[in-house]
Amino acid sequence: MGAAGEIAIDPKVSSFIAQKHRLLIDGQWVEAVSGKTFPTYNPATGEVLAHVPEGSKEDIDRAVAAARRAFEEGPWRKLTPSERGRLLWKLADLVEDHAEEFAELESLDNGKPVAVARVADVPMAIDLLRYMAGWATKIEGSTIDLSIPGEQYLAYTRREPVGVVGQIIPWNFPLLMAAWKLGPALATGCTVVLKPAEQTPLSALRLGELICEAGFPKGVVNIVTGFGEPAGAALAAHPDVDKVAFTGSTEVGKLIVQAAAGNLKKVSLELGGKSPNIVFQDADPELSIPGAANAIFFNHGQCCCAGSRLYVEHKLFDRVVEGVAEEAKKIKLGPGMDPTTEMGPLVSDEQQSKVLGYLESGLVEGAKAVVGGRRWGERGYFVEPTVLVNTRSEMKVMREEIFGPVVCAVPFKDIDEVGQAANDSIYGLAAAVWTRDVSKAHKVAHALKAGTVWINCYNVFDAALPFGGYKQSGWGREMGREVLELYTQVKAVVARL
Ligand code: NAI
Ligand code: MG
Repeated sequence: MGAAGEIAIDPKVSSFIAQKHRLLIDGQWVEAVSGKTFPTYNPATGEVLAHVPEGSKEDIDRAVAAARRAFEEGPWRKLTPSERGRLLWKLADLVEDHAEEFAELESLDNGKPVAVARVADVPMAIDLLRYMAGWATKIEGSTIDLSIPGEQYLAYTRREPVGVVGQIIPWNFPLLMAAWKLGPALATGCTVVLKPAEQTPLSALRLGELICEAGFPKGVVNIVTGFGEPAGAALAAHPDVDKVAFTGSTEVGKLIVQAAAGNLKKVSLELGGKSPNIVFQDADPELSIPGAANAIFFNHGQCCCAGSRLYVEHKLFDRVVEGVAEEAKKIKLGPGMDPTTEMGPLVSDEQQSKVLGYLESGLVEGAKAVVGGRRWGERGYFVEPTVLVNTRSEMKVMREEIFGPVVCAVPFKDIDEVGQAANDSIYGLAAAVWTRDVSKAHKVAHALKAGTVWINCYNVFDAALPFGGYKQSGWGREMGREVLELYTQVKAVVARL
């Protein structure tokens, strides 16, 4: 199977893709109430890969009811923290046992190179689950001395699970986003309704099978595939959901906030970005050039933290732009299932049109493509890796999230100018600075309004590092110990002695 150069699909993967897909509700695999399904495509070819159930409000209602029962009455509540941790660890082991299947599923459904999914998406998902398994036994309150005269009290806090959680995830790292969301929810004892992105539902459904195999009690994790409207919207608005966690566009993030207002459910959001990547002239070009290329081209630029605004100090500007353009030319495009492919297609024809639309608007407004600028190939949703120059700060390509392999390179003259330019964005997810001057690096890092700042590196993630946005890039932090706050609430208990 597959075109020349592509690896043969693992038979376990083909048979999984071909099976009749269902929703996971209350430990059972069920059809959507409406009986409807929708297709998911292979973005390398545009061909239909599989059909999955099209969940609607009724399915969300059933899933939320199951999650509520599992939270209030089921065995889940009675498990010890250690038992919850062991279940999560077991799930991580199962994902590891099936790592190659997941890498292929991600490549087929999302378009990313199987070689990248093998070393990034899948191991990072496993690592996150293990890291969160460790937290299950370390969720603690504190004892507090009161200052009330004449009486003696014992006062302490407990950190309790927030309850039933709705999780809505995007398509850029389908398995990894599911792990980022499920890990902390399960470590803290919540129950979940997960809605994967309509473009990439398959790895979440496979993960659902492993969740059942690991032995999580029924109803603890429910998975409803479907579209943002109606399935995602119904989850965000549901009166019996205690918290909604969302990763996706800033536009939809704002809709989630409105939908959540009905019952004032807790909300966490991981949204868009327009991250500045700043190269000073004293930076090592051997590091900063490939670093700047990786910052934008990793995952085809479909990263919320993509380094899409490249600021380079005057003297080094031509060299860095040429260097990044050279890196772009070297990238081998092709179907993700070819193990030599370095950049696959974008996820959908919608995303391809969106990115091509941005390129056109940039070129019309006077930008110039040093490399790339067009669609690549005759079929599939490919876009050439692109470096734009002659951009001005008011252009759409400089202000809006393109979410494709397109970087705008801009020269700057000094630290003050670049600090201002870098912060001139509604977003504040990530940023990077490249310099050999240690104190300059940290000064800039402190001045940047961003949830993550990388120094002489980019795209460095770890399950232990909190990740999230300033400004309109989001609310709350995922990963690290910080994420536990999103999934727990504090109860103060006071006893008179
Ligand atoms: P999106 O924000 O529409 O989709 C993300 C998730 O939200 C999907 O599961 C989708 O079904 C769901 N959703 C959509 N509308 C909803 C609603 N009204 N209520 C509840 N859930 C809803 O993102 P989309 O349309 O796939 O991509 C558009 C742009 O969003 C991209 O070009 C990119 O700029 C940005 N994006 C950012 C991501 C990030 O990691 N921060 C990930 C994906 C997209
Ligand atoms: Mg959308």
